Formats: sequence, C-alpha cells, structure tokens
Amino acid sequence: MDDRITDQDIAARITSSDSVAALAELTTELLGKGSDLAARKAALGALPPEERRGEGRRLNDERVAIEAALAARRAELAAGERAARYEAERLDLTEVVPHLRRGHLHLVTQTLDELEDIFVGMGFTVAEGPVVETDWYNFEALNFPAGHPARNMYDTLYVDLGEPESTLLRTHTSPVQIRVMEKQAPPIYSVMPGLTHRRDTTDASHLPNFHQIEGLVVDEGITFGDLAGTLEAFTHAYFGGDIQSRLRPSYFPFTEPSAEYDVTCVFCKGAGCRTCSKTGWLELGGCGMVHPNVLRNVGIDAEVWSGFAFGFGPERMALMKHGINDIRELVTNDIRFLEQF
Ligand code: DAH
Repeated sequence: MDDRITDQDIAARITSSDSVAALAELTTELLGKGSDLAARKAALGALPPEERRGEGRRLNDERVAIEAALAARRAELAAGERAARYEAERLDLTEVVPHLRRGHLHLVTQTLDELEDIFVGMGFTVAEGPVVETDWYNFEALNFPAGHPARNMYDTLYVDLGEPESTLLRTHTSPVQIRVMEKQAPPIYSVMPGLTHRRDTTDASHLPNFHQIEGLVVDEGITFGDLAGTLEAFTHAYFGGDIQSRLRPSYFPFTEPSAEYDVTCVFCKGAGCRTCSKTGWLELGGCGMVHPNVLRNVGIDAEVWSGFAFGFGPERMALMKHGINDIRELVTNDIRFLEQF
C-alpha cells in the first residue's frame, strides 16, 4: 500500500472490500462530497496562507494515493468477478462430441470380411455376381427345371423385364457358382459373398433382404470327406475350438448328396435350450457334392472333375457368434446396438 496514505484504516478497508459494488460505495465515502477529504478541502480557505499550501499539497497527495489504491483493488475485484461470470456462463459443448466420434463398420460387414478372411486363409479366392439374375442362373442351370417343386423353397421376387418370370432378384448366391465355372476352368476354390432377396416377412429370424456366402470347390478326386473337413476347419476358425459341426442329409437340386450344415448351439454349448429347440445344434446352411448335371450345364467333364459346394447366411452367423436373438437388430440401426461391435 502506498505509504502516503497515513490512515492505515483506509488502506485496510480498501483491501478488504469484497465486491466492485462495495468498493464503489467506499469510493463515494472516501472521495465524495460528504468525505473527510472534501470537508478538509472546503476548510482550506479558512487556513492562514502559510498553512494552506502545505495542507493543499497533503490533501492532493492523499487523494492520489487513495485513488490509486481504489483503482488497484477495483481491477482485482473486476477480474475475479469476470472469471466467475465466465465460469457460470460457460456452455457445456461436450454434448456435440458423440457426433464427431469416429464410426466403424457395421456388424454384417465385419462378419463378411471375417468370413472372407478365413476362406482366403484356406486358399479360396473371392468372386462376385449380379443381384439381378436370370431364371437360367438362379434356377435352370442349378438343375431346377421349370416347374420343379424345389423352386417353391424360394419366394422369388421377379423383375418386370423380358419374358414374364425370366428376370429376378437372386434368391441365393448359388447362381454365382455357375458364373465362376463359366469363366474359369477347374481347379476352382472360390467363395462368393453377396446380397440376396426373397418375398418373405420379417420376423426375429428372417429378413427379406439378407446376405449369403457361397463356397465352391471343383477339382480332381474331391470327396464328401473334403467337404466335411473343410466345414469343420471353418467352424473352428470362426466360432472357436469348442464348437463342432455336423452334416445332416437334406435335399437341394444342385447337389447330390446334399446336407444341412449344423454347429453346436452357441447359446447352450450343446446341452439343449430354447434357441436350438432342445437339440443342442443350430442350422447354419446347406451343402453337398456338386450335381453332375450342374457340371454338364457349364461344360465341365463330370467324369474327370468333382466338387462340393456350400451356402451360409452371414447374418445368422453374426447372431450366433455374438449371442444376439433377433435378426432385426441388424437392420434397425440403433446406435446403442451397433456400437457394441
Ligand atoms: N442356395 C441354398 C439356399 O439358399 C443354400 C445351399 C445349399 C448352397 C447347398 C449350396 C449348397 O452351395 O451346396 O437355400
């Protein structure tokens, strides 16, 4: 504090003022019309001339010192009050952060990538075909002649193009087998992922638009044992060592013999629960040995070459691997669901 302020009490009152408003009142009290300084100034005229000058200078020095002390304290208090106001008025902008967060691939895309990676690791190549197909590729070449009852397994959506019911949205990825065999001579080791469509009602285990991944092997001396071994190796690679696979007799026109591919129920580990209807097994797809008629349809000599094929549903595999019980979760786009994967 400036030592020209003789009154220690004034200095203490200034430093202990705790707000800009309180300091304003103190300013009026110390320097205003009713102040001690004002009274002493008014009394100057009554002093003898030789005292007047000294008293005048003293009054001025005191005023300057008090003003300086007040200004210093005012600056201090104003800075503190400004900081407090800024703190109180601060906007919480952290709410926008989630929108800036980096996303990630959808669970179905992740699953397709993972399935491809496993098969590529086993020596398969990846091929693709069109979603809009002709009756020939989707049915006829796969040994479903017109009117074949197995066509009823597929609720087909037809496209209004060409002859009635000649163009359709592929109901499975098996037509890509035909396209691969047309383009490439054996040996063939390929997987074919892609979107498929059926005239189906959505429920907890069905979507009308879903993916499949098709597998095709054509080589010399390929047996059913190769199919079973390939699927068992795949099962362990995708689900882990404690999940087994089994093949059950079935029917598809394009394979003979045909089988359903089942894996140990991932929910009860084979003990039997509601999801697996107490069987301990879950059905994942179809498979079989490529029918000689199919090889013939693409000009491959069925006496020299043999092969196996399979078709799985990636959505269903994702559900099983992650213990999700409703396939609709995959298309609802609820961020709280999606961000878990
Ligand atoms: N395409 C069949 C379906 O969608 C699944 C299938 C079964 C594919 C047997 C195959 C196979 O390649 O060999 O129902």
